[in-house]
Amino acid sequence: MTSDPKILFVDYTAELGGGQLCLADIAVHLRHRCEVFLFESGPFQDLLEKEGVVVRVPKRDTASLSVRKKSNWFSYLSSIPVLLSLVASLARVASRFDLLYANTAKAVMVAVPVALVLRKPLLVHLHDIIGPDHFNRLNSWLFVGGANLAKAIVANSDASAAAYRKAGGKNRNLEVIPNGFAVERFAADVTAQSRTLRTSLGGEDKPLVGLFGRIAAWKGQKVLIEALKQLPDVNGVIVGEALFTAADQQYKRELFALAEKLGVSTQLQFEGFQTDVLPYLKAVDVVVHCSTSPEPFGRVIVEAQLAGKAVIATKGGGPSEIIDDRVTGILVSPSNSAELAGAIQELLENRKWAEQLAANGRQAAIRRFGLESVLKEWTAFINRNAPTVTKPRPVTEDGIEKREAHPAAVGRREV
Ligand code: UDP
Ligand code: GLC
Repeated sequence: MTSDPKILFVDYTAELGGGQLCLADIAVHLRHRCEVFLFESGPFQDLLEKEGVVVRVPKRDTASLSVRKKSNWFSYLSSIPVLLSLVASLARVASRFDLLYANTAKAVMVAVPVALVLRKPLLVHLHDIIGPDHFNRLNSWLFVGGANLAKAIVANSDASAAAYRKAGGKNRNLEVIPNGFAVERFAADVTAQSRTLRTSLGGEDKPLVGLFGRIAAWKGQKVLIEALKQLPDVNGVIVGEALFTAADQQYKRELFALAEKLGVSTQLQFEGFQTDVLPYLKAVDVVVHCSTSPEPFGRVIVEAQLAGKAVIATKGGGPSEIIDDRVTGILVSPSNSAELAGAIQELLENRKWAEQLAANGRQAAIRRFGLESVLKEWTAFINRNAPTVTKPRPVTEDGIEKREAHPAAVGRREV
């Protein structure tokens, strides 16, 4: 008799980035046979637990694992105790599972030693484009070396898969599965909220352009500010927060200063992180995506398409795989505010065409990224690479077969 392999997902952050929202979809779908190990507590943990997923968080504060692009040898050395503590905590939890699944690069660094010692197969979900824009050489070497030891890797786009290969990735078991989206969520009627928002964001007198996503230098919020300078009759809204690093916080301060310096402060509003972006997506006329280096996938682009908005995104990476230029959206060069301003102008002057692009984009997004079909692909990927788990038939003294309960009851666990 065989049973479904039990999966332990591992992620480093409890903030709500795209990689975490993607994992949430998978873990919720498989909650009857998985748990999630996080390095820290936070909103991602809350979201998972609300959906009935068991989350494990180490007792000791391990969020300070400092392996960033700008990390130096000192920060690596000072991270060793935290790393060892994480490995020990993860090993304690992992022994009860059949499979480890590391979401993102930092999780790989902790999951690899545990998988090797416990002899558990490891799967890796690659959400990043490995390369000098985001990884220093040591991080890239550590991640690629770890991922090479995994049983299999799933990348969120062809671009992420290609970058892993280019960085020396040798794992032969590499697949690409995009993010999935609950299409019906984006068809919800939020007219009342979006009308109120539109009023608070300057009303209908001026067109409104929206940029969605966390605030970080490579997400290119500066490019939108520069474009707004060239479009004095257009308002802008930035939805998202500086989630991860002190450098992100610093960049946010620079954005305020730039808007002030260019005289566009009155045209632009910062709305911070929103748990539900849909009313904002519906409130704007055009959605822009401004990443200055190739976006690995770009959930916000698909979400805008599903909300029925015309999207302008920067060429390269995921956006070039999602958007058929001038058919399902518009692609512009990265860091080119004049081109971005030109594309915004073009859409605003040609509303019929903008509507056509939006309709095409929505259809393509529904066809390619529907959550149900993507979940099937993820589950098949996991099952294909999981060990076969045989279990003795549990029989009670009276000879009647016993139902086995899930190894852990729902609830917050510290390990
Ligand atoms: N997001 C959100 N609230 C915000 C801004 C963004 O929930 O205020 C979500 C957004 O809807 C998307 C995700 O964060 O699902 C960002 O994912 P994406 O892949 O675009 O970028 P990432 O931040 O992962 O690099
Ligand atoms: C990462 C990437 C983003 C991608 C998301 C989900 O956060 O930066 O491009 O959409 O993961 O795969």
